[in-house]
This record gives sequence, C-alpha cells and structure tokens, in this order.
Amino acid sequence: MPNIQISTLDNLSLPFKEEGYFFYPLAKSPINGEEILLVSFEGKEFTFIVKRREKDILIKADKITNVLPVGVIQKALRVLSKNLKAEIFYSNVNSTKRRKAKISPYFKDMEYFYKEFKTDRNILVEVGFGSGRHLLYQAKKNPDSLVIGLEIHRPSIDQVLRRVEVERIENILVVNYDARIFLEFLPSNSVDKIFIHFPVPWDKKPHRRVICEDFINESIRVLKKDATLELRTDSENYFRYSLDLFLNLNKSSLEIFKNRELEISSKYEDRWRKLNKNIYDLIYKNEEISPFKEKPAPLIFENKVLFSKINKKFKKETFLEQDFFIHFENIYEISKEEGLLKISMGAYQKSEHLYLFISKEGLKYIPLDILPSFSNVKAHKKLKEWIYG
Ligand SMILES: C[S@@+](CC[C@H](N)C(=O)[O-])C[C@H]1O[C@@H](n2cnc3c(N)ncnc32)[C@H](O)[C@@H]1O
Repeated sequence: MPNIQISTLDNLSLPFKEEGYFFYPLAKSPINGEEILLVSFEGKEFTFIVKRREKDILIKADKITNVLPVGVIQKALRVLSKNLKAEIFYSNVNSTKRRKAKISPYFKDMEYFYKEFKTDRNILVEVGFGSGRHLLYQAKKNPDSLVIGLEIHRPSIDQVLRRVEVERIENILVVNYDARIFLEFLPSNSVDKIFIHFPVPWDKKPHRRVICEDFINESIRVLKKDATLELRTDSENYFRYSLDLFLNLNKSSLEIFKNRELEISSKYEDRWRKLNKNIYDLIYKNEEISPFKEKPAPLIFENKVLFSKINKKFKKETFLEQDFFIHFENIYEISKEEGLLKISMGAYQKSEHLYLFISKEGLKYIPLDILPSFSNVKAHKKLKEWIYG
C-alpha cells in the first residue's frame, strides 16, 4: 500500500490543488478522532488514512477507495510530500523503477459487465475455477464459445491469466467477483453452461455456500432453454443439500452420477481420487424461458442535503433487513458543509465498504462504481430514506 511516514502536518496548507489533484481539508471524526485525507483527481475521489503515532504520522492509501490505478495514488502522495513542510521518515512512492502494470485484456471488472458486455457467442460460465485446468480446457475445446471464469482468489486469477497469455487463448474472460452476485448482471436466457466444480462445502457455515436458493433462481434465469448447470463435488453432504434445493423447485430435470469420469481432472479432483473419495455429479437441465430483465439504474442521489443535518442525526448503527443491511460506521467532518460517512452495505455475502461524500454539490459514493446489485439497490433506497427523512 502506498504510504509515507512524516514528522508533522502542522505547516501543510489545506486545501490546495496541484497537478490535477485537489486535496481537501483534513476530515476528522467527532466520534473517535480518526482522520482522513480526501483527494479528488479527474472527478474521482479517493482517501488516505492519517494516523498520528507516538513518533510520526502515517499517511496511507485507504483500502476502501483503492480502486484507481496505483500510479494515481502514488503520485498523489508525491504531490503531497512536495507540499509538506516536514521531515519524511519513510516513503514507498518514490521508486524510480515505476513499472506500468499491464492489465490483461481478458481480465474484466463488474463495471464492464454492467455497462458494456455483449456477445453473440455461446457463453459458458465456470464458478470458482481455482487452478483453472477445467476453464482452460473448456476454452480450448469450444473455440467459438466465450468462457467466463469467476473466482474470488486473486492468485488463482493471476495464474490463469498467465496461462491464457502463454497459450494464446482468446475466448476467455476472467472476473474477480462473487459468483452469487455476478449472475445478476447477465442477460436472461444467455448462458449455455454453468460449471461448479468442487465448491467449498462450508459445512459449518452453510450460508456461505455458492449454491443457495437465490443462486439457483438466477442460474435458471440466465440459462438458455435446455442449457445445463453442472455441480461436481466430493462432498456427499453438499451434493445432497444441492439436490434438495433443486428438488424444491416447481419443476426440475436432473441427472445424477457417481464417480463419472471426465476428460479433464482438476487439481482438487486428483487429490480426492488419490484418497479414494467418491465424486458426485448433479446436472440440472433448464426447461424454462425466462422473462427479459431490465438493466438496473445506477445508484445516484437526486437531492442535496446539509452535512450539518447528517452530522446531527448520525449514530453508529446497523439496519438489518431480510436480504440486505446497512451499517453506519463513522462520520468525518471536513467543514460545516462537507463531510464523509463511512458505511458498509449490501448483501450479507458480499458487502460494499464505502464512503458517502456529502458536499454543497450533492452526494456521491466513493468509490463511485457501486454496482446496482439486487441488495445494493435495496440498501441504497433505505439509505436515501435515512438521509432525506
Ligand atoms: C475447492 S476450490 C475448487 C477449484 C476448482 N474448481 C477445482 O476443481 O480445482 C473452490 C474455489 O471456488 C472459489 N470460490 C469460493 N466461493 C466463490 C464465490 N462465491 N464466487 C466465485 N468463486 C468462489 C474459491 O476461491 C476456490 O478457488
């Protein structure tokens, strides 16, 4: 994480603008004294955490807003350093070998799926591809299809992207996102196959399982008629749990196999086979044509509000609803008219951590690209009721 460690902030004159960066006055929490430095660059805001320690002050990039290219954030700290009248004890933003990170064209974010994604090709989706053996195999076997791999473990993603480059595979898109929410952003009746091979069984925390009622319903919506969802697992428990969920549907067409041989064996499968474990397949065939789904509108705030009003009514609290929550964590005052709320909200399985920036110009989330997922839309509505109420 980009950071600097300095002797003092006393002689820094805030706000100031330089090289396209606007540094706001320090934002301070009236609740616990925490401090945040808000910066704006090309219409996008991000924050630094300011920690006053016994012998120095640490200014470090804030995980919550760390979505811009690292070069933008490092440069902000270099601009800030130039303007400090302080000793800089440590800095990791001055390296001369500033490598420009190459982003693979096959790595896509959710913004892409929300705003741009379109294809005429058949779509295959693999949930939790891990080492990627099966994902790469499917891409090579189906060169005319588009294979979308979902994974939440970043090292697995990087490993697969390297293989995609080495093997010059061009029909793959890799996404670092929770599969349970990803499907919401695909059009209805668009997918030919969903593979879920060896999902984490989560025997002690079943609510974390990928397969759940909402996931099944979204799978049915995105699958074409006669397209399939294939679960492969070594966990008899997970298999039976999934079977029950599919049998609970009004109408189901299922195939079941025990110890079926596939042309490709994943890393996990090799491990379980060595231990002589049984492997179960459940293949669900979709027989429905689902209605068209409108693209959800972006999450915006139509009206302004006085920061002083929000400051007055703020308290650390959580709203828990059936399929979403909002947690108000902290509030930071920049001036009487401007400030930040620190919030987490959205789905229980995939919450968003963010700031809400309240200024004379209006309200906006930081980072900006909060997806209008089903749970976020509901949480956003509730937040607006709280703000304007
Ligand atoms: C046990 S591994 C199996 C990997 C691979 N399918 C195989 O057979 O070798 C399960 C993988 O699913 C990923 N995963 C877990 N929950 C996920 C979710 N909600 N969305 C996407 N990937 C997920 C994990 O990071 C992990 O890599």
